[in-house]
Amino acid sequence: MTSTTSLFHPVEADLHAMAEGLKKLVGARHPILYAAAEHLFGAGGKRVRPAIVLLLSRATMANGEITPRHHRLAEITEMIHTASLVHDDVIDESDVRRGVPTVHSRFNNRIAVLAGDFLFAQSSWYLANLDNLAVVKLLSEVIMNLAEGEIYQGLNRFDSSMSMEAYLQKSYYKTASLIANSAKATGVLSGLSDEQTAFLYNYGRELGLAFQIADDILDFTGSTEVLGKPAGSDLQGGHLTAPVLYALESSPQLEPLIEREFAEEGDLEMALALVRESDGIDRSRILAQDHAARAVKNLDFLPESESKQALADLADYAVSRIR
Ligand code: IPE
Ligand code: IPE
Ligand code: MG
Ligand code: MG
Repeated sequence: MTSTTSLFHPVEADLHAMAEGLKKLVGARHPILYAAAEHLFGAGGKRVRPAIVLLLSRATMANGEITPRHHRLAEITEMIHTASLVHDDVIDESDVRRGVPTVHSRFNNRIAVLAGDFLFAQSSWYLANLDNLAVVKLLSEVIMNLAEGEIYQGLNRFDSSMSMEAYLQKSYYKTASLIANSAKATGVLSGLSDEQTAFLYNYGRELGLAFQIADDILDFTGSTEVLGKPAGSDLQGGHLTAPVLYALESSPQLEPLIEREFAEEGDLEMALALVRESDGIDRSRILAQDHAARAVKNLDFLPESESKQALADLADYAVSRIR
């Protein structure tokens, strides 16, 4: 498996500077946020989203340049992502993130809600200050989509009649929208044509879906140690993902267990075993690989460069964890 460090080689120094910048940016405003910023923007996150913005900047600008506006867009992207994680961990009652205790478990829910709000607000402020209305529209839609995704997921827990289309739509809202729209915004800042920015959007969209499906598979195949969270926690929380939706087609015994929300002794273990023994994992793997392959096709129009190669490798990395 490629590590993200070698993958992000063309922008590694920029990513490092960004993490330091974010810590200062967020921490300086409020003492209460200082500790939160310190561990949120520490070394733990994979920084996939800002890496994509920076790599696309190099791949689309003359001389492989990263302009100050591209740098700012990368920061905004990571800020929005981190804000969504802080809130998501409150909703999911998750205790560990990026290898450290989550903000709400280290401090409390009130601070976590405020810290997430502050990050969203600050990202909007920096976004507006890019002075590019098209980019503001792209990224503000993402913030809306993230909330819609969480709401949709919350309303559809334990609904075994959920369709694959609904699952993919939810995955777009929660994960792919940010990657797609920030990729497109990068192209807008680089002055690309509408046709070219559409390719970048589709690259991000397909990559985001591949990434989310892979993450959903790992919930069934990964160990608690590797995941940094209890394995099987999606199913336990009633979040029906690709492996479960496929498994429901071949193992109808799964349905009553889900419908009674694993109320009886042994229900959850039985359901986990049914999913793991079904063809759901393999079919999901194919689905993720399909999306990753489609992502790469959208890079065809870019001139050859080290950054373009890294963007293609990233699609491979997204699904390498589930091979
Ligand atoms: C976590 O995203 C949420 C999902 C979309 C699966 P990442 O896996 O990119 O989280 P960090 O930024 O590395 O912590
Ligand atoms: C993470 O979602 C938050 C968003 C993508 C908005 P999940 O709850 O599915 O992922 P983890 O397991 O907490 O990273
Ligand atoms: Mg979560
Ligand atoms: Mg969640």
